[in-house]
Amino acid sequence: MPADTQGPGYDYHDTLIIAHAVLASIATLITAPAAILVARYFRSRTWWFRAHVVLQAFTVVFTIMFFTLSAVAVASGGHGTQFVGPKKDPHHDLGLSVAILLWVEAIFGIAAHYTHTAHSATSGAFPTIKAKKSPLRHLHAWYGIFVAGLLYAGMKTGIDEWNMVADSGTLVPNGIQIAFWVIFSLEIAAYVIGWFLEAFRGQRNSRMISDHLGDEEKRDTPSI
Ligand code: HEM
Ligand code: HEM
Repeated sequence: MPADTQGPGYDYHDTLIIAHAVLASIATLITAPAAILVARYFRSRTWWFRAHVVLQAFTVVFTIMFFTLSAVAVASGGHGTQFVGPKKDPHHDLGLSVAILLWVEAIFGIAAHYTHTAHSATSGAFPTIKAKKSPLRHLHAWYGIFVAGLLYAGMKTGIDEWNMVADSGTLVPNGIQIAFWVIFSLEIAAYVIGWFLEAFRGQRNSRMISDHLGDEEKRDTPSI
């Protein structure tokens, strides 16, 4: 694309892409991981589900907005979209699939919420996995981790994309790139630690159940 900058400012294409990048970064680094960490750490609290849904509703709205902004920015160059053809690249293809997969994930989440969860007594290290619940719930959780991973990949490839195609010829500042990797690492670490805590608590609870409860009580013990 020809450079069309006015002084040090950004042209129409770059301004839309900056808005695209900001919204994509908020969805990838704030709302989606916060919702997932709420589900991991606070599942026993009554408010976890409302917090998860509100945060993920923001993620979905941001995805719609940043996807639209990117499509308008790309179209402003007179090439239509760039999902296929000589100008397609991994960020465009990946970005399209991430958006679709995330919207489908939200539908799975809503459907999972309407399935019945039997409050079965679960023992052992990982009650989240062992609890008797609809396969849709398991699907939503595992598929959600996959979608979150793709969001991070979308953001990383987006940073590279700006460095290649910005009309202003600018590069994403090093500080932003380092902040991305630091936040990414801290969030993954927090999530993995959440699973370790569940394993630890699950084992302690099942020891308590077998030490102190009768068979009838064990059957009635809520799981997650
Ligand atoms: C999860 C995060 C992201 C997703 C899902 C995503 C998605 C997309 C999609 C679908 C397009 C192509 C639109 C089309 O061909 O019509 C696109 C273009 C683009 N995105 Fe992203 N994006 C993300 C993050 C970012 C970030 C963080 C940046 C910059 C720092 C960025 C910079 C760009 C640029 C420069 C283009 C291409 C504009 C052009 O070729 O003219 N994206 N993005
Ligand atoms: C807005 C609609 C959504 C609803 C109604 C919803 C609902 C739920 C429900 C009911 C669970 C518990 C499943 C279980 O019983 O184990 C859950 C967990 C989870 N959700 Fe969502 N969800 C939504 C959106 C999303 C999105 C968009 C993502 C991914 C980006 C996501 C990722 C996850 C993950 C990873 C877990 C499991 C967390 C863990 O225990 O480690 N959710 N969600």
